[in-house]
Amino acid sequence: MGKLSGTEIKELHRDYILQSWSVAGKDAIPVAKAEGIFLYDYDDNKYADMSSQLVCTNLGHGNKEIIEALKEQADWMPFMAPSYATDAKSRLAKKLVDLAGPSFRRVFFTNSGAESNENAIKMARMVTGRTKIFSCYRSYHGATLGASNASGDARRFAAELGGANGFVKFMNPHMYQDGYTRGVDDAECTEKALKALEQQIRYEGPNQIAAVLMESIVGANGVILPPEGYMEGIRTLCDKYGILLIMDEVMAGFYRTGPTFGWQHFDLVPDMITFAKGVTNAYVPLGGVIVNETISEYFEENVLQCGLTYSGHTLACAVGNACVDYYEKHQIGAHVLEMEAILKGFMEEMVEKHPSVGEARCIGLFSAFEMVKDKETRETLTTYNEPNTAMPAILGKLKEKGFLAFSRDNYVSICPPLTIRKEELEEYLPIVDEVFTWVDETLI
Ligand SMILES: Cc1ncc(COP(=O)(O)O)c(C=O)c1O
Repeated sequence: MGKLSGTEIKELHRDYILQSWSVAGKDAIPVAKAEGIFLYDYDDNKYADMSSQLVCTNLGHGNKEIIEALKEQADWMPFMAPSYATDAKSRLAKKLVDLAGPSFRRVFFTNSGAESNENAIKMARMVTGRTKIFSCYRSYHGATLGASNASGDARRFAAELGGANGFVKFMNPHMYQDGYTRGVDDAECTEKALKALEQQIRYEGPNQIAAVLMESIVGANGVILPPEGYMEGIRTLCDKYGILLIMDEVMAGFYRTGPTFGWQHFDLVPDMITFAKGVTNAYVPLGGVIVNETISEYFEENVLQCGLTYSGHTLACAVGNACVDYYEKHQIGAHVLEMEAILKGFMEEMVEKHPSVGEARCIGLFSAFEMVKDKETRETLTTYNEPNTAMPAILGKLKEKGFLAFSRDNYVSICPPLTIRKEELEEYLPIVDEVFTWVDETLI
């Protein structure tokens, strides 16, 4: 079978694909090759993948150790159903529970982040006998019906049309947009937010609330760093009212922020951890829910009313094992902290230099620039959930210069593969500086 040309690939994509979150018929880069942090199209144009695709290829493209593990498992045995025990699945479950820490006990495997949250929600309802799920407005938890209803950003509206019961939103703090100064107003911001949340919990009926579902570090909505004490306060409220805390680590997990999981930045331990993306470097779909001892005990006495044909897929678990081993063997967490220092330093310079950059947030290799019209008033460059041309123009300029970034609302996010080398970071960051100069001159 002959290979398609770049033009054919592009045309077939445009004419036959229904693409996520897009109007059908859009052009996409036909990718001929991907290696390390780079993608190449069919005309040999080179792009630095500074968003790790959808913040999921944490170990970069074409990683040979992972690909070998995939091939080996495919040769040995690509698939066994959930009720069979396999080397790959048993091994990975134990590794993940160990990585999560002493209070955790078992894993339910899924195929995506949304499915992980969907199943965590079901489990929380089964265990507590309560219905309501609290989640943040500034959040994203996936696109299946339950996960979408739990998501706070505007992508949930389509899923809300037919309805799903018991999803309650609360406003999580965004220090910059809420007018606070980080490092100065944390206590005030935390106190206000937790007070409002506790009041909302009381009005919703604490004995009806099964779980609070939160991203440890809000990702797709702008790498929002919570004020000091906020996350710990959420844990305290959950304990006070017998509510489970589900920590969504789909984007922040697997060393994206430095430690294995984002919640490890805080003085708390969740009851369930949901994961996907980085567990397999996205080479094959895999996600899951890691549950604590108490939840595990419940399902030792009660049937788990959750099931997926591909739960614990053999091929996916083999890749998961290879990735977890790779993260540890190559000390990716420590490397992330070294690269963070460079990225953070650069971002702070950009805030100083550019009138259009209001704030920079960076934790590990998870970062976002807050683009503004006016630094004094903190007026954002675009209005929440209103169509705009400014952000696509910024991403387009970056892309023209071979820099692929990620964006929503008014922010530009840089989340390169965690394996990025110092020289690569230093070579590509100046492109952002150039594009921000253009933004200063033409868009504000
Ligand atoms: C925090 C978070 N949770 C869940 C999801 C959904 O994951 P998936 O697209 O694999 O269903 C995402 C996707 O970006 C995410 O960022």
